[in-house]
Amino acid sequence: MSDFLRQALANNERWAERKRAEDPEYFERLARGQNPEILYIGCSDSRVTVEEMLGAAPGQVFVHRNIANQVVLTDANVGAVLQYAVEQLHVEHIVVCGHYECGGVASALAPTDMGQLNNWLQTLRDVYRLHRTELDAELDDRLRSRLLVELNVREQCLNVIKSHHVQRAWYKTGFPKVHPWVFDIEQGRVRDLGLDMSEEFADLRAIYDLKPVGPRAR
Ligand code: CO
Repeated sequence: MSDFLRQALANNERWAERKRAEDPEYFERLARGQNPEILYIGCSDSRVTVEEMLGAAPGQVFVHRNIANQVVLTDANVGAVLQYAVEQLHVEHIVVCGHYECGGVASALAPTDMGQLNNWLQTLRDVYRLHRTELDAELDDRLRSRLLVELNVREQCLNVIKSHHVQRAWYKTGFPKVHPWVFDIEQGRVRDLGLDMSEEFADLRAIYDLKPVGPRAR
């Protein structure tokens, strides 16, 4: 076993002991179930540690991570996560959190053959295509990459809203709310992009609205 793995197991033992010392019933309570308020969809990047950076305790955040925080509705994994989070856990908020210095985003801006990764990043390249004028106008590579991180988070939030899981819940309860966030690695800060996603979606309802009856909102 590697030193890191040995250390990790030792860390875990100490953590469990400390938790039990603070609260003898902590793990029994945890084992009884979860009631998270939010679903967090983020990048797999090892530097973006959701619980640590948000100060969240076990049980508070339902998490889905993949390369470059993509919400591809034909991806069975994210589809199952959305369904479970919305229909079973009744999360009130869905956060899509991108991050600056994202390797996936940098790759999408510099096309090259990366095998299976090309297929995965295709939706991200589609975001580039959709916002090409704005992105190509930014001549600084680093700033262009940051801009795509932000545009991507917005697009993935729209994809969340396009899903029937979220739309069905929206029309019943008005929840979940969807939030585009970006983690600035250099600052350690998470920033809410401040977009009202139901307003952002309003323009697109004529295309993506799944409401089964009544006149379509234009
Ligand atoms: Co990333």
